Amino acid sequence: MKFCKQVVDTYLKSCHWGENESGSAYAPANIALCKYWGKRDHELNLPMTDSLSISLGSYGSHCTISLSNQDAYVLNGNTMEKDSPFAQRLRDFLDLFRGAAGYHYRVEATNTVATSAGFASSASGFAALVLALQQLHGWDLNPRVLSIFARMGSGSASRSLWNGFVHWHAGTLPDGSDSFAEPIPSDWKTLRVGLLTIDAGRKVLPSREAMNRTVISSALYASWPQQVQHDLITLQQAIAVKDFDILGACAEQNAMAMHATMLAARPPVLYWQSATVAALHSVWRARSDGLRLYCTMDAGPNVKLLFTADCQDAVCEQFPEMQVANPWVQ
Ligand code: DP6
Repeated sequence: MKFCKQVVDTYLKSCHWGENESGSAYAPANIALCKYWGKRDHELNLPMTDSLSISLGSYGSHCTISLSNQDAYVLNGNTMEKDSPFAQRLRDFLDLFRGAAGYHYRVEATNTVATSAGFASSASGFAALVLALQQLHGWDLNPRVLSIFARMGSGSASRSLWNGFVHWHAGTLPDGSDSFAEPIPSDWKTLRVGLLTIDAGRKVLPSREAMNRTVISSALYASWPQQVQHDLITLQQAIAVKDFDILGACAEQNAMAMHATMLAARPPVLYWQSATVAALHSVWRARSDGLRLYCTMDAGPNVKLLFTADCQDAVCEQFPEMQVANPWVQ
């Protein structure tokens, strides 16, 4: 984390520091329509390619941070074991921001989205934490810098600072100062994301490890940057003209292609469970019966559905257990 610290220091040394008792913030989770899959820098979480996501609205993380005598992390009401891998990751991240005073922090986070099951809780968690830190210390940093900070916690967190569509620019600079996300202006308010929980338990392999293993060992990874280049353009055009079928088909294909790269890794990575496969077949059957419904998946067994508000009743009938996210409403 040495290089991360240097980068953070360059932003913090010139920014205003105030004194507040605590800071609180909410950040929505996000689901990528064009995935971030592979890093060019593992410390700074710099991606190989751009990615594009949609916010999950009221599904995300609430975070409150306050100064304390020693660090304490409480997740969903449970105090985390000091030596747990997640506490270690959080401590390393907070080490970047303790300032000259060497502050200690009490962090309380509540997720409204399943933790570590491919519903992007680390994305919303790190984004909410960065927003809460800004409030606690009274920093006056712009969203671009906050996106850069969130990215150091988890790459996809760089995209969790906004509602709606978000584009994360991969950038090319070694310090990552050009690798940040920003919102894509759009008033496509009828778009909806359905969350199908296949398994809310902890996943078999963290997405970070699956991603790294795929880059190192999958022969199919070589085709990924080209896939992204093509899909980004398609998605941007679909968003501009609000063409739902083009957007849905592209997002679905992008997710399938990402999972294909994982299957070709050594050893292979397969997050799909039999209920995942059944859900995918249900989506495809419903679509061939005329329902405008598409799906996407992250590195986990759960499935996210893409549809428009006018089809919500029909989709709910097919998937009664689905939760519905409105990407523009927190
Ligand atoms: C499949 O952002 O969790 O969800 O940067 O190592 O923390 P780290 O990875 P992370 O990976 C997300 C991968 C993905 C695709 C995406 O969200 O774009």
